[in-house]
Amino acid sequence: MEIATTVAEARGFIRSWRSHDLAIGLVPTMGYLHEGHASLIQKAREECDRVVVSVFVNPTQFAPNEDLAKYPRDFAKDVKLCESLGVGLIFHPSPEEMYPPGYATYVEDPKLSENLCGRSRPTHFRGVLTVVLKLFLILEPTRAYFGLKDAQQFFILKRMVTDLNLDIALVPGPTVRELNGLALSSRNSYLSEEEKKAALSLNQALTLAKSLLRSGERQTATLIAAMKGAVAAEPLVKLDYAEIVETTGLSLIPEVTGEALVALAAYVGKTRLIDNFLWEGEDKV
Ligand code: PAJ
Repeated sequence: MEIATTVAEARGFIRSWRSHDLAIGLVPTMGYLHEGHASLIQKAREECDRVVVSVFVNPTQFAPNEDLAKYPRDFAKDVKLCESLGVGLIFHPSPEEMYPPGYATYVEDPKLSENLCGRSRPTHFRGVLTVVLKLFLILEPTRAYFGLKDAQQFFILKRMVTDLNLDIALVPGPTVRELNGLALSSRNSYLSEEEKKAALSLNQALTLAKSLLRSGERQTATLIAAMKGAVAAEPLVKLDYAEIVETTGLSLIPEVTGEALVALAAYVGKTRLIDNFLWEGEDKV
């Protein structure tokens, strides 16, 4: 397995693979890898000739008051996991390599960033879009793999690929959870045992909304009120948002008539966690 820390080094490996017509699968990550990341790497391994994992805690997607400085990092462990999963290249640049002095260009999608996480983190998706486009241009993947745990991120990136005519297939992967339902996240490492138990209320709220949908409820106000009630029962958890949007423009909808994204974010102590499910008439995720 190769490790590149500069754009020039990474390009060397990519160019030689592309000259042999090999299909390259990219899994962008911020490191501190867990089973959720591993599931995307495995999928990429099955579908591509070479797998590239980027490990980069991207400063432009964190607001000044957020957890950039204390975001968990363990590169040595990430290297071992990637090695064991058959990754061909890890791209692990420094912030200065990605954003050298004078850096000034950003990609934005104000429309799809309007609701859900975009409302509480107004500069977040601009940072995500910018870094992912840079990774696409540096690493020239055939396919790129993203988790539906971050469903808004996936839909915004799909929009960018369409709008900018990028010749890259985006492949979604399902949310990987602990047996108790908690969605895996690098940020779960911030939680105390007590907070971990409290965090189960996020998935419980979504499960409640799903069962109401299955029993025929279609009014989003009713579904959202039920989710708010489930989260409010847990004193350590403070809801940021619970919203239901359609999956093209990510606009809020009064009634669920087709495919919909049911999503929430909440603070568990000081840690902000997100979770969601996709409703496809009969939900498939
Ligand atoms: P990060 O949070 O490290 O996640 C990297 C990828 O793993 C994302 O596509 C995310 O959706 C996926 N992932 C995280 N937890 C998951 C889970 N429990 N099940 C399935 N997939 C999961 O998302 C980012 O990094 C960054 O925003 C990035 C795209 C790398 C840009 O900086």
